[in-house]
Order: sequence, then C-alpha cells, then structure tokens
Amino acid sequence: MKQLPIFLNIQSSACLIAGGGPAAARKAKLLLQAGAKLMVVTPTLSESMLLLLDSANIEHLQRDYHSDDLQGKTMVIAATDNYQVNLQIAADAKQKAILVNIADNPIASDFTLPSIVNRDPLIVAISSSGTSPVLARMLKTRLEAFIPKSYSTLATLAGEFQVEIKEKIRHVGARKAFWEKSLTGNIAELVLTGHETKARQALKTAINNANQNYSNAKTGEVYLVGAGPGNPDLLTFRALRLIQQAEVVLYDRLVSDSIMNLCPQQAEHIYVGKRRADHAMPQANINQTLIDHAKAGKRVLRLKGGDPFIFGRGGEEIETLAEHNIPFQVVPGITAASGCASYAGIPLTHRDHAQSCTFITGHLKDGSINLDWNRLAGTDQTIVCYMGLMGLPIICEQLIAHGIAKDTPAALIERGTTAEQQVHTGTVSTLPQIISSRTVTAPTLIIIGTVVTLRKKLDWFEQQ
Ligand SMILES: C[S@@+](CC[C@H](N)C(=O)[O-])C[C@H]1O[C@@H](n2cnc3c(N)ncnc32)[C@H](O)[C@@H]1O
Repeated sequence: MKQLPIFLNIQSSACLIAGGGPAAARKAKLLLQAGAKLMVVTPTLSESMLLLLDSANIEHLQRDYHSDDLQGKTMVIAATDNYQVNLQIAADAKQKAILVNIADNPIASDFTLPSIVNRDPLIVAISSSGTSPVLARMLKTRLEAFIPKSYSTLATLAGEFQVEIKEKIRHVGARKAFWEKSLTGNIAELVLTGHETKARQALKTAINNANQNYSNAKTGEVYLVGAGPGNPDLLTFRALRLIQQAEVVLYDRLVSDSIMNLCPQQAEHIYVGKRRADHAMPQANINQTLIDHAKAGKRVLRLKGGDPFIFGRGGEEIETLAEHNIPFQVVPGITAASGCASYAGIPLTHRDHAQSCTFITGHLKDGSINLDWNRLAGTDQTIVCYMGLMGLPIICEQLIAHGIAKDTPAALIERGTTAEQQVHTGTVSTLPQIISSRTVTAPTLIIIGTVVTLRKKLDWFEQQ
C-alpha cells in the first residue's frame, strides 16, 4: 500500500487553498463540508469558487500566494494554474510540516483527496493511489448505485442509539448480534424504504426487549424475491440487497449460477428444483421449510426465476406464510416475457401491431392445455406463452383451428437475456417443425403476433 487511508478530523481547523479554478473549488467544497475554516488565496475566481464564498467559513484574499499565508494552517491545497508556484507552496509547507496536496501531482503531494460516496455520516473513500483517478471515479459510480442514499439515515439512527445500546447490552457479542440484526433486518428495511419514524420506534422496542442473550432472541423473515430471467444485470437493487443479507436461500432451477454467486457464501443453500414433472421438493415441503427457518429466526430468501407472481406460485407460498404469521416481503423481478422480448428485439405491444398482450401458460397442473382459443386467435394482439415448448405443436394447431392466420409470425426464445440466448423465428404453421428439427435448451418462451417481424430491425442483443 503506497498510502495510508485515514479519515481526518479537520473541524474548525485552518486550511489554505491557493488557487481559484474549478479543481480548487471542488477541494474547497469538500473541506468546507468537513468543517474546515478556509482561507482562499487567488487573484481570480472561477464561477464554482465564487458560489462557495457565501459560506461563513471561507475567507478570500484577492492576491497571489505568499509564504506567510501558511501561518497557523493544518493543511494546504496548492491548486494555482502555475506548476512552479504549486511546487514552491509544497516546499514551503513541507518546511513547516504542514500537510500539502498539489493539484494534478499526487507524487509530490503528502495526501490526495479520494473519490467519495457520501452517505454522511457514512463515507466510502476510494483511491487509486494516484494511478487512475478515472478508475476510482468509475468505481465510485458503481458504489453510488449499490448504496442507497437512505444509508445516511440508517447510519444517523444507529449513531443516535449507540450509547443507549452499549449501556443496555453490555456483552460485546450480544451487542454485535443486536446491531447485525438491526442493520440488516426489518429496522434497516423500514429506514431504507423511507419509514424513519417507524424504524426509530422499532429500534426502541428492540432495545427495550433486548437482553444479554440477544443472539438467542429470534424473529425471522422471508424475502420472496424475483431473480429475473437469468442475467444478473437485470436484478433490482432491492433484490440484490436482500440477496446479500440472506441466511438461508431456497432457490429454483431457473435461478442462474451467476445470481446464486451473489448469495452469501455462509448462507445455507437449499435447492428446491421445479422442472416439468420433476419437483426436487414438493410445494408443501417448500412452504414448510420456509416456515421452519423463519420460525428459527433466520432471514430466509426465497429466490425465484422471473417475477414471483407470474407463473411462479409466489402467491401460494406467501399465503401459507401469512397463515403462520411469518413476516415477509415481496420483490418483483423482470418476468421472462419482458426480459426475452427486450433481448430479442420484439416489443410486446406496438401501435401498428398489437394493442394488447396476453401471458399464457402452455402447461397446466394436469399436463393439459386448456385455453380460450377463440380469444387468443383474434388479431392485433401478442401472445406470450410460458412453459410452452412441449405444447408448441398443439398451441399452434389450436390457434390455426380457431382462425388465426397461418402466416402469423412466431418466435421461440431459449435461455433469453443470457449469453446463450437463441431466437428461432417462423410462423404459427412453421415454428413447430423448425423447433423439432433443432436442439433447443430450456427455458424457452414463445411469442406469437406480428410484433415478431420487428425483430429484423430491432434486434440489438445478438448484434453486439
Ligand atoms: C415456472 S415459469 C416461471 C416464470 C417466472 N416466474 C417469470 O416471471 O418469468 C418458467 C417458465 O418461464 C419461462 N422462462 C423463464 N426464464 C426464461 C428465460 N431466461 N428464457 C426463456 N424463457 C424463460 C419459460 O417459459 C419457463 O418454462
């Protein structure tokens, strides 16, 4: 490590900034936010520096730098537009043992200012030790997206109760368990979803109920989370957050490995399967497993492909949880229809093609396909068929028998949204034949309607 990362307390410390350009202004703003008292020495001011001069903690001297300006300063930023002057400031500062940063010169600087993700009082600082500020900024952008703004409120709330909790729960291990639970469980969720008052109340209740054996006090929760159609980029932020705090994970066959890799290593992973006619674990057992783990106080993640409420039996699972008074929350996922359609370049509705879109299942509980064929055979609509690979010939046959034009375009998308995606196109009369002559890997989705013709123009994913 070339540099020591530290967070410096500069509240009310006198600091000097030589220079008035945008870079100097950026640093001045940061120092002001950290409570410094600033002296800015510069004959000219940029727009951004001018805006800062309203602050009570900034004094502007409209002239060039002079070595006397260093008198009584804790820290100096040399950001004039003159390279030699900056070096001179640095030399003067070093002589007086004052920490100095030189703009665009990390090597000659005592310290650099990191890229930060500011969720004050929570601060994440990123440094590339001067090698690549662009890389550090790129990482910052990613972290910005991962750490919701409401972490600021969460950290403030934690700070508010820190002393009280320390007094109430004296055992270090128990206190750690209390904080871990509060900062990942329902109290955190309340804060992160904007219910600060309720969160404060819940934290007070938790403190009142806390005892030295806190780690044994249990109330679990189930997160029913839609994992989307396979590509991890399509997870929601909320899904990712809950995935990362799970203690037990029950997952389906359709949840991709790359999404499973996001689950905590130490969590218990339980495969519950669900392939056509081959359920690794019967639904009743899945429901019972969710209940048992939640009652044991665990944060249980029920991870499902796509959206849990679309052909996912998510409703049934949480009905059982509700009957057992188990707290739960549901996170929607991108359903296969949306994901596959987008990645195949087939809009599901379009003013010139389809005014409605119907999601159907090509596979009923008893293996039959029993649909309103007359309605589905109508024009100006799109049909999306889940679990329809086996039933494809019957579906097409029935649609034709009920009056759909034989040349109605149709597509079958296999492993949609993933790097293995394949799209097979034809018409309702040709697609079954085309598919039977090819090797196709599940999961697959069928789209029927003239919107399929738009793919010729709109396919973007496979073009990449
Ligand atoms: C039991 S349903 C679950 C649907 C899921 N809840 C959703 O909202 O996407 C499983 C069916 O979803 C479709 N499916 C899911 N992911 C898919 C993908 N990546 N590509 C194609 N079809 C997919 C297939 O039709 C598969 O048989």
